[in-house]
Amino acid sequence: MNIDDPIKRFVEKDTDVEEMSPMDPPEAFAPSTVEPVAYEDMHPILQKLMDEHKVFVKVLDNFESALTEWKQNKWIFNDNINKNFKELFSFLDNNTPEHNKKEEKQLFPLLHKKLLETGEHSTGDIPKTGVDIMEAEHIQVAQLGALCLNFLGLGSRMQDKTSRELTFEYAYSQGKEIVEIMRLHIYREDETLFPLAMKLISKDEFENL
Ligand SMILES: [Fe+2]
Ligand SMILES: [Fe+2]
Repeated sequence: MNIDDPIKRFVEKDTDVEEMSPMDPPEAFAPSTVEPVAYEDMHPILQKLMDEHKVFVKVLDNFESALTEWKQNKWIFNDNINKNFKELFSFLDNNTPEHNKKEEKQLFPLLHKKLLETGEHSTGDIPKTGVDIMEAEHIQVAQLGALCLNFLGLGSRMQDKTSRELTFEYAYSQGKEIVEIMRLHIYREDETLFPLAMKLISKDEFENL
């Protein structure tokens, strides 16, 4: 990962945690106060997004175990690996764009405005909010997905064993990165951004989204 990556840079700026784990997420964009909101109390628009997250997490779990199996298997594919890889890439192709578009078109513009108004943003020439990070990650994961798929195709066509394995190792790392970014991304939306949305966006405003 490039050190100049704006997301990484922004995340690192606000946290002292060396190792980011979805199980132990850092205060990524350190909002001052986030009261937890139970699923039942979330607006239906947010509940729908959270439901879609659950499905995605399952796909990510399967993909991750397939990645591990593939590596242990010395980069030889089998039916289970193929199935779980296919599931991930078809999810990235068919489900994720629509989900992201819903967030970006329906929820994020007003939320971004509210976060700026309430001071929930980074200090800098151009103040950034959690919404900026989420949007950047949507693009980043789509790019990683395309890269990973391309490396898989490239490696499969390589005759030379060493080159093929090296190419597959790249694909593997990109796959792992997809899993890690997405898990943290979903965690931040569910646990930080959506509760903030509930706090900052009124019922009436939700109805007009
Ligand atoms: Fe998102
Ligand atoms: Fe999402």
